[in-house]
Parts: sequence; C-alpha cells; structure tokens
Amino acid sequence: MRPAAKPNVSRETWLPPAEEPWKNPAADTPIGAEAERAVRLLHNAKGSQLPRPPHQRVFTIANQKGGVGKTTTAVNVAAALALQGLRTLVIDLDPQGNASTALGIEHRPGTPSSYEVLIGEITLQEALQQSPYNERLYCVPATIDLAGAEIELVSMVAREGRLRNALASLQEYDFDYVFIDCPPSLGLLTINALVAAPEVLIPIQCEYYALEGVGQLLRNIEMVKSHLNPHLEVTTVVLTMYDGRTKLADQVADDVRSHFGAKVLRTVIPRSVKVSEAPGYGMTILEYDPGSRGAMSYLDASREIAERADSGTKGQQA
Ligand SMILES: Nc1ncnc2c1ncn2[C@@H]1O[C@H](COP(=O)(O)OP(=O)(O)O)[C@@H](O)[C@H]1O
Ligand SMILES: [Mg+2]
Repeated sequence: MRPAAKPNVSRETWLPPAEEPWKNPAADTPIGAEAERAVRLLHNAKGSQLPRPPHQRVFTIANQKGGVGKTTTAVNVAAALALQGLRTLVIDLDPQGNASTALGIEHRPGTPSSYEVLIGEITLQEALQQSPYNERLYCVPATIDLAGAEIELVSMVAREGRLRNALASLQEYDFDYVFIDCPPSLGLLTINALVAAPEVLIPIQCEYYALEGVGQLLRNIEMVKSHLNPHLEVTTVVLTMYDGRTKLADQVADDVRSHFGAKVLRTVIPRSVKVSEAPGYGMTILEYDPGSRGAMSYLDASREIAERADSGTKGQQA
C-alpha cells in the first residue's frame, strides 16, 4: 500500500525566502542546519550542469538477485542526472513497476506501458510519461501486464530485439541517458534490455553472498554479447546499502573492487532509511530529502557516471 500523501514532505527541504538561501538564522538548530545543507546541495546540483555525453548512453541495470538496489539506483541516478541538466529516461521492465512508483508515474493496469511496446502494440513514444518533478526526466512505466510478457514473447519474431527496435524510434527526444530497470531474473525481459543497451550497470549489495549469482549474470552477458549485441560491456558497478558499522560491508566492498577493478564507482551508496522511504511517496531521494546522505551519494554516483562518458569505458551508441 502506498502511504497517504505527506503534505510537507521533509522539514529538511524547506527553502528560506532570502536571496542567498543558506544565510538563515535557523541554521543554529539541527533542523536548520539540515535545511541549510539541503538548500546548498540543491543549489550546487542545479548550478553544476553536467556536460552532455558525446552519444546517447543506454544502461541496463541488471542483477538477477532481487532487493540489491537495481530500481533504487536506476531512479535516483536518473533523477540526479536530470537535476544536473541532462535529458534522462527510465524504462521500467519489471512487472512490479517499482521504478514507475518511485518516479511518481501512473502505472495502473491499462496505462500504456513497456508491455504494449514489447508486444508491438504501441511505440515507446506513446508510453512516455514526464516526471512530475523534473521536465527533463521521463519514464516508460511497467504495469502488471508485463508479467505475461516473458511467455508471450517466446513465440514472437525477433523476440530478443524488440526493445532495441523500439528505442531506435525515440531519436527525436534526444535523451542523453537511458536506464532500463530489469526484473530479478535472466529471462526474455532482461535479455531484451541487454540487447538494447551497450552498457551494463550492476548494483551489488554490501551483504553476504553479494557476488553469488554474478558469475551467472556475467556468463549471460557474454552470451548476449557474442550472439546478439557485440557492443555490450559491463561498464559500471555500484556498491549499494553499505553499512559502515559492519566489517562485512568493507570485506564485500574489497572483494567487489578486486573482482571488477575500475568499473566500481568510488562512490558507495550508504544504507539509509530515507532512501527506502522515498518510493512510498512517489519520489526519488532527491525530492524526498535532498540534504540527506543518500541524496548526496546518488548525486556523486551520477557525476562519476557522467565523467566516464569521455573515458575509455564509454559504450557505443545503441
Ligand atoms: N541505500 C539504501 N538504503 C536503504 N534501503 C535501500 C537502499 N537501497 C535500496 N533500499 C531498499 O531495499 C529494497 C530493495 O531495493 P530495490 O532497489 O527495490 O532492489 P531491486 O530493484 O534490486 O529489487 C527496497 O525496499 C529499497 O527501498
Ligand atoms: Mg527492482
């Protein structure tokens, strides 16, 4: 159940009316100090516009384990990039529709969605919805209908390339970044995402068994690469839900870094209650609590990803 709308989302996001908003006397109190931080952060984020990548970058966010932070990373990185001036699209490819929910996007049964796009009933453009919070951020929602797609797609022509073909028709929107949020499985939906994107972003939770299943994912990626999409590369790994109080989190982070090397972002996403609360209000952490550590870490992660557009890890145009 979605909680009732919260009228005043976060005291921390209150904007003082002054011309120089951070100069405010309330900053002497803890709440005031947090407000100051939030205002400063948003001010800086809006002020620091990121350069557009040389080509559109399309990422599949994949990990067949559920609950590792795929959706959270997709929506928050996308929102952070949009906040910093880039045109960004999230394609929800999980029948649960969590990314749609988190972005505050309508996805009741009957809403034009990724399902109709995949089965060829509508174009991607017809399913596009704009974020209520950022005019540069768009979403193609998922409805529960998508649950049947894995089976329906089996008998369809070019079943693995349907999303790629649909994406090709979106040229005029000129998106800088596209993120495809995958379900926790390696079925035809995830394969469609891997065929549509040159770059794979793997979120890894700083927990026991973090790397379990990643080998299988990498083998699948290799298979898609050799048969269906020669441009495919894992370019980015994000460590999520890091809890600095546990030794385990550091061990996992070290393991992942020694396995994936420079693909792992320096920024680590901390475990934070605020991050997990935000989707319940149809918001990303950047709207829900822009001054929080979670918001800052996703802004940092988005900048790192954008910086890599110019480096050797940059994928090719889809
Ligand atoms: N950094 C974080 N701190 C706290 N909770 C988080 C964080 N990232 C994700 N979560 C929560 O963990 C759960 C799983 O995350 P989610 O992004 O939905 O994973 P996936 O898409 O891989 O299944 C969700 O309830 C989400 O709100
Ligand atoms: Mg998810």
